[in-house]
Amino acid sequence: MRLILLGPPGAGKGTQAQAICRHFGIPQISTGDMLRAAVKAGTPLGLEAKKVMDAGGLVSDEIILGLVRERLQAPDCANGYLFDGFPRTLAQAEALKRDGVPLDVVLVFEVPDEEIVERMSGRLVHPASGRIYHVKYNPRNSPGSTTSRANRSFSATTTKKKTVRARLKVHHEQTKPLIDYYTAWEASGDPAAPKVRRVNGVGPVDEVTERVIAALLS
Ligand code: AP5
Repeated sequence: MRLILLGPPGAGKGTQAQAICRHFGIPQISTGDMLRAAVKAGTPLGLEAKKVMDAGGLVSDEIILGLVRERLQAPDCANGYLFDGFPRTLAQAEALKRDGVPLDVVLVFEVPDEEIVERMSGRLVHPASGRIYHVKYNPRNSPGSTTSRANRSFSATTTKKKTVRARLKVHHEQTKPLIDYYTAWEASGDPAAPKVRRVNGVGPVDEVTERVIAALLS
């Protein structure tokens, strides 16, 4: 399985990516996670990216494409991969096509803006495992949670409302046109075109996962 997750910030791409990758045994390629790792390591790339990320903007296509091209060389990508948060611009999508990177599905998450703002203000991440929780919607002591013991540390990655709104604006302007791009490619009848599948991202996490897996297998 080779797929792209598309959707606004906070749509649940990272949350669902973990379930999809487990189901298909493929690696998650999250450009956001790669950038955050560079920020944490204090590399020159990380320092440059931090300013843009804090303002809710997009890091340059050149940097992102460099990171992704390098990641795709790793042996674990041989049997598939999941792009989470990439491509974000038409230039990134076109570069992926030019590079001949095979794709099976583009999965589009549909979540209204008002719900996004609510979700982003309660996100928790378990640093060791990278698992994503929410103080209200997906608490870390929910049934099935394997990280509920009190002595585990969690970090809140709550995003300021101002930054969320800036990210939503960028999403509407630059990332939404990708849905039209992939829809038009599929409609062209090109056998290399990925299938576009839409999923309602509102509802309990497990229910969304069921919808996601069903959409990917359809
Ligand atoms: P990135 O890390 O990719 O952020 P994002 O796309 O904005 O996505 P998030 O990780 O914020 O949200 P998500 O959809 O994964 O939702 P999550 O599962 O966490 O990018 C960060 C920044 O890096 C960008 O702004 C940009 O600057 C830069 N960048 C990255 N890639 C780039 C690229 N390709 N080009 C240029 N710049 C790039 O869920 C959110 C919360 O909701 C969690 O608390 C979760 O528990 C909760 N939740 C999940 N599902 C549900 C549900 N069904 N119901 C209720 N709550 C739910």
